Amino acid sequence: MDKTSKIFELHQVSRIYQMGEVEVRALEDVELDIYQGEFTVILGPSGSGKSTLLNLLGGLDRPTRGRIQFQGQEITACSDDELTTFRRDNIGFVFQFFNLVPTLTARENVELATAIAGKPGDARHYLKLVGLVHRSDSFPSQLSGGEQQRVAIARALVKEPQIILCDEPTGALDYETGVMVLRVLYDINRQMGHNVMVITHNAAIAAMADRVIYLHSGRIDRIEDNPHPVTPEEVSW
Ligand SMILES: Nc1ncnc2c1ncn2[C@@H]1O[C@H](COP(=O)(O)OP(=O)(O)OP(=O)(O)O)[C@@H](O)[C@H]1O
Ligand SMILES: [Mg+2]
Repeated sequence: MDKTSKIFELHQVSRIYQMGEVEVRALEDVELDIYQGEFTVILGPSGSGKSTLLNLLGGLDRPTRGRIQFQGQEITACSDDELTTFRRDNIGFVFQFFNLVPTLTARENVELATAIAGKPGDARHYLKLVGLVHRSDSFPSQLSGGEQQRVAIARALVKEPQIILCDEPTGALDYETGVMVLRVLYDINRQMGHNVMVITHNAAIAAMADRVIYLHSGRIDRIEDNPHPVTPEEVSW
């Protein structure tokens, strides 16, 4: 992690939902820097704003107030088309329930991402990286949960985005499968230098992170530096 180089800068970021008469303050006045190449874990109770924050960083949503800069460019000032381009070129998403297309094989699911990105990536290479090249022709229904999640990671990676955003990537997996998925994310971060940001309800995973962001009621409660991150295999829960 290079603390001199910021990849995201958030200034006074709020996301407020108007529900009839009621205002839901999903995020409020968030000041946050994310550094180039860090492994970041986001922890916090249900409803504390974790997914809201990740969706703002990934350009899936816009703040109600405040500014978000990515590599010095203000994405909050982007048009919808520019935001789509930002997302396509820089962000890979991994969700809890994989979101694979059931009628496409593993390889086709990964290739679909490259087709959308308009940037021909090597689907085979990334399926190999997640240990699934031998299952390239399997459909999602023929794969275990952990295998499906690894296909989803290959799909997020094939565009070679600088940022991988994961919303509870191990939430639907058992312990051993979870460790396998974390190992893939860990290698991407440590070997390839991609930023990895992981939302989890599992506090044990925080031991892997360079920094841990604790959210509470839409605000940053605290941020902890972790000088000695552990490997996924050393995490136990
Ligand atoms: N589209 C929406 N409309 C209205 N309120 C919303 C919407 N999305 C989120 N919220 C509210 O914003 C708050 C933060 O939601 P968010 O999904 O970010 O929480 P979270 O920390 O990811 O929770 P969980 O751990 O349960 O996934 C919650 O109170 C939620 O009800
Ligand atoms: Mg959430």
